[in-house]
Amino acid sequence: MSSYTSGNSSANIKRVTTHQMQAMKARGEKIAMLTAYDYSMARLIDEAGIDIILVGDSASNVMAGNETTLPITLDQMIYHATSVVRAVKRAFVMVDLPFGSYQGNSSEALRSAIRIMKESGAHGIKVEGGREIKDSVVRIISAGVPVMGHLGLTPQSIYQFGTYSVRAREEDEADKLIDDAVLLQECGCFGIVLEKVPASLAKKVSERLTIPTVGIGAGAHTDGQVLVMHDMLGITQDFNPRFLRRYADLKTIIDQAVKGYINDVKTIDFPAEDESY
Ligand code: KIV
Repeated sequence: MSSYTSGNSSANIKRVTTHQMQAMKARGEKIAMLTAYDYSMARLIDEAGIDIILVGDSASNVMAGNETTLPITLDQMIYHATSVVRAVKRAFVMVDLPFGSYQGNSSEALRSAIRIMKESGAHGIKVEGGREIKDSVVRIISAGVPVMGHLGLTPQSIYQFGTYSVRAREEDEADKLIDDAVLLQECGCFGIVLEKVPASLAKKVSERLTIPTVGIGAGAHTDGQVLVMHDMLGITQDFNPRFLRRYADLKTIIDQAVKGYINDVKTIDFPAEDESY
């Protein structure tokens, strides 16, 4: 994808592209990625300068309250992605292909990817898995769609794993992960998310690949980092993995604001005269 200027803005904002991500890796500049699922939050994080916005299937958890990412549908992902794309002027917007929309066969995978690109206006897609989905990855990329891989703890396989604990601690699984990462690069993926794997393994993979890696719970040596926005802003409550750094405590701020509002309504302090017509 070549660099272009956003048609929406008079400020000549240059979009982040896959080529720029590659160049960032080459010069050692880390890539910052966050999730977003709606217009307002996407606008805030885009204006703050985030490089990649992931419309993650974690929307199933943080937006819809499901226990896993499995229930979210392609239509729902497209709805979230469309809202995010409307807000974003600079970041690269990438969308997860949801569970069940690409594992069947490569034609189904291509159809799902094309629906996302056409209907939402997103810039790329992300898929979970390695050699098992090779044909789908190749087919999607051959249609001109940028694809990011996702290895390690892949939440769409949670019922196979049976646990959200760190993956690839054992040599066999680590070797398979390295082989899958190389394969995804050979297939033409522009990057790979590494989730919840030992830092030493993520370092090895990142050094081996020419495409960027983006880690979540994968230590400091990946080429970028990604967090779920609701986790890092302190909106979600019950999720406290070791890798999560909270940059704000929005739960407390929202709680105080809502309690203040309730109090002002009940005591007829709100609205005041200068807040009335
Ligand atoms: O869906 C998601 O938010 C993700 C990130 C955790 C990488 O896939």
